[in-house]
Amino acid sequence: MGNDERMRAQPSVEAATPPPPPDTLPEARTTDGYRRTTSFRSRRSALSAAQQRTWERLWPELGILAAPRDSADAPDEPLNTGAWFGRDAPLVLEIGCGTGTSTLAMAQSEPAVDVIAVEVYRRGLAQLLSAIERENVTNIRLIRGDAVDVLECLVAPGSLSGVRVFFPDPWPKARHHKRRLLQPDTVALIADRLRVGGVLHAATDHPGYAEQIAEVGDAEPRLTRVGPDRGELAISVVRPSTKYESKAQHAGSAVTELVWERRSERNRP
Ligand SMILES: C[S@@+](CC[C@H](N)C(=O)[O-])C[C@H]1O[C@@H](n2cnc3c(N)ncnc32)[C@H](O)[C@@H]1O
Repeated sequence: MGNDERMRAQPSVEAATPPPPPDTLPEARTTDGYRRTTSFRSRRSALSAAQQRTWERLWPELGILAAPRDSADAPDEPLNTGAWFGRDAPLVLEIGCGTGTSTLAMAQSEPAVDVIAVEVYRRGLAQLLSAIERENVTNIRLIRGDAVDVLECLVAPGSLSGVRVFFPDPWPKARHHKRRLLQPDTVALIADRLRVGGVLHAATDHPGYAEQIAEVGDAEPRLTRVGPDRGELAISVVRPSTKYESKAQHAGSAVTELVWERRSERNRP
């Protein structure tokens, strides 16, 4: 084979590394080029034709894509949420909203609170977009991307009244525990983004993960655990029942509810 033929037989660099299909996120890498360990699986999530139409109509106004924090596209400044929602109201970030069942119900029950739903799974966000339109809900916005990138680059310190993490992926195998979202670093980042009195609300049906979340939250010096008899909080902690609740019930497992409040600097231990 001559040189020319050999060159033709080789796949071009472009052909060997096609761009990611539009329904999966680009792979996140650290500054030194390693693939980042994430708390989510990269899964394809093609939309139906109807979902695609809804997406094209609503996403430009209600959604944004978060660039990975180590990428050239990472923003230098946090989001102007007042401009995005068209008002200044208490702000909640829900991490890993799935198809948005809790997001929708809780936003409807607290119309004076603005909710940003963060999810990597596009079909889940598309379902939430359809529900927002159907129910005519005005206090939800959506961000597609890794919640850690969102907290780090798009959310200002001390700006959130609440962070919700319902049924985070438990990564049950010991060798995957490093992929769990609620680790000391992420909980510290959440505590930093909460305003004094802001609430971190987590729920899980996985006993081992519940223990880990409790330990990590209790060890964070800016957070104080809130018991069920605590009076009024900055945001509601009443969750609707979702498919994860039903699954847990069927499997005979309990759902653990964990709530912390961000304490003031003066009250730090
Ligand atoms: C087990 S599901 C729970 C969905 C929803 N909270 C509920 O209760 O129905 C966990 C979701 O979190 C999302 N997720 C995991 N890690 C994430 C991250 N770092 N940023 C955004 N979403 C994430 C996954 O894509 C998945 O949809």
